[in-house]
Amino acid sequence: MAYHILLLASLGIWLSNASPATISKRAALDDCLKTASVPTLASGSADYTQSLKPFNLRVTFKPAAYAVPATVKHVQDAVACGAKNSVQVTAKSGGHSYGSHGLGGEDGHLIVDMRNFASVTVDQTAQTAVIGTGGRLGDVATALYSQGKQAISHGTCPGVGVGGLSLHGGYGLISRLKGLTLDNILSADVVLANSTLVTASPTQNADLFWALRGAGAAFGIVTNFKFRTFTAPESNIVFNYYFSPSSATALATALTALQDFTRNSQPPELNMRLFLSGFTTFSGVYYGTRADYDKLMNPLLSKMGISSGSVSTNTWLNTLTSFSNGPLKQVTPYDTHENFFAKSLMPEYLSPAAITALSNYWSANARSNSRSWYLLFDCHGGKGSAISNVSADATAYAHRNATFKMQFYDRIYNGNYDSSWFGFLNGWIKAISDASPGVNFGMYINYADTSLTKDEAHSHYWLGNYEKLTKLKAVWDPTKVFEGPQLVGS
Ligand SMILES: Cc1cc2nc3c(=O)[nH]c(=O)nc-3n(C[C@H](O)[C@H](O)[C@H](O)COP(=O)(O)OP(=O)(O)OC[C@H]3O[C@@H](n4cnc5c(N)ncnc54)[C@H](O)[C@@H]3O)c2cc1C
Ligand SMILES: *[C@@H]1O[C@H](CO)[C@@H](O)[C@H](O)[C@H]1NC(C)=O
Ligand SMILES: *[C@@H]1O[C@H](CO)[C@@H](O)[C@H](O)[C@H]1NC(C)=O
Ligand SMILES: *[C@@H]1O[C@H](CO)[C@@H](O)[C@H](O)[C@H]1NC(C)=O
Repeated sequence: MAYHILLLASLGIWLSNASPATISKRAALDDCLKTASVPTLASGSADYTQSLKPFNLRVTFKPAAYAVPATVKHVQDAVACGAKNSVQVTAKSGGHSYGSHGLGGEDGHLIVDMRNFASVTVDQTAQTAVIGTGGRLGDVATALYSQGKQAISHGTCPGVGVGGLSLHGGYGLISRLKGLTLDNILSADVVLANSTLVTASPTQNADLFWALRGAGAAFGIVTNFKFRTFTAPESNIVFNYYFSPSSATALATALTALQDFTRNSQPPELNMRLFLSGFTTFSGVYYGTRADYDKLMNPLLSKMGISSGSVSTNTWLNTLTSFSNGPLKQVTPYDTHENFFAKSLMPEYLSPAAITALSNYWSANARSNSRSWYLLFDCHGGKGSAISNVSADATAYAHRNATFKMQFYDRIYNGNYDSSWFGFLNGWIKAISDASPGVNFGMYINYADTSLTKDEAHSHYWLGNYEKLTKLKAVWDPTKVFEGPQLVGS
């Protein structure tokens, strides 16, 4: 009884800010899904409430309906129901978008949750794997390994979904050697806006295949990918050094040395990152011998002013665990969340003036910030990176030449992140941009920045590829079924 009153009460609140037209549209959408037997979560059920909790609790949305398809036919029918009722359709895989784009990025979407598309099937002879988009990275890595010790290049956080990661980038601890996750996609099965199922590959629907690899969310719902796999390397050097720059000058010196090394001397076998926060670390993995590692790293460490840390040798799965924020195996329901604001920069080159501005801002504003902030520099590109080895217009991912993948992150552990704190990270990027006249820095949609306008998002996320993407959007999704505030064509 109490349950029903609660349910009616929350329904009342919801209906009270929806117009009569919206209400009838929702009723028609629900009818359509029901008629097609598409499984949905009932508004107010425990699963529904849990499913609306995104990774970033700061950014929540209320969908028009929530589908949990079990078959490709269900996905097709869900897309048809959305299109027919003019409700925008959004695929959700791991729900880790920083702007909660997997919940639409705004209210009123039909969510198509891909949780039932999570299988991993390896062809050990061909070294390929068919992987459902709803799988989470930790489970996928474990499943690949259990089938002939196979692996793919992917991100570090085990809860991230295959769908969002692979369609927009996918950078991790073997990317300089093996490329981004999206560089290893051989083909994708996609439900289009008109609910047709097609395969996209270099030989089938090649222009769609191009768009999917960097801007996928705006072009369809991918049910599964076929990836190229490799045999996991089993003896990897994992390192983690501590670094405490004493001044802005010391930080600038370290960043200058690191940038120069990454651009010119960092080999594909070396993957690493500088994690600047209250407690700064410099860590990574080397796929090679200890002697070669020492020869490469010792001069760099000394230039950066780094002297203490640990170096160990790890198997593949332990290497992944060393950089994950918990065990690889994921629990259902997924329930890890943070409350934060984040931004990114993908610089090809930070000028001395930009490095000075960045370092001065750190000294003046970041060091005194008692929230849990960080600035991560992933050593992404340069002459020795498989990512930069691909031209910027070969796929929709436009950041091939970025030396660093920089992520600015500010969070709190209790309560809600307040919008009055946005200025801290916005100011940091502004300081770097002001010191870099004439540079249009790339930004990474997988680190979606909710403070960008749609025009800013289009320009920074896709740089020179955006115009081509808008043309392809008109071909593959002319009625804009797959929309979101920052997606192509919004
Ligand atoms: C803790 C954490 C760690 C991270 N670490 C890394 C990292 O190491 N490397 C890295 O590159 N990134 C990393 N990311 C960023 C991550 O890649 C993105 O947030 C990614 O978009 C998440 O994908 P998802 O499927 O979990 O998210 P969702 O929110 O479900 O989806 C993200 C976007 O992709 C779309 N999408 C999802 N599935 C499909 C599909 N099947 N078909 C079409 N569109 C789809 C959604 O509509 C949405 O627009 C990290 C994020 C977090 C929160
Ligand atoms: C870059 O591409 C060339 C040609 O395909 C290849 O020989 C080389 O190994 C690649 N380098 C990296 C770092 O992937
Ligand atoms: C990337 O770098 C290469 C080599 O430095 C350069 O030729 C190319 O123009 C750059 N591409 C972009 C898109 O900046
Ligand atoms: C669906 O859309 C695609 C891309 O626009 C088009 O090629 C195809 O003919 C359409 N199919 C149907 C059945 O309309």
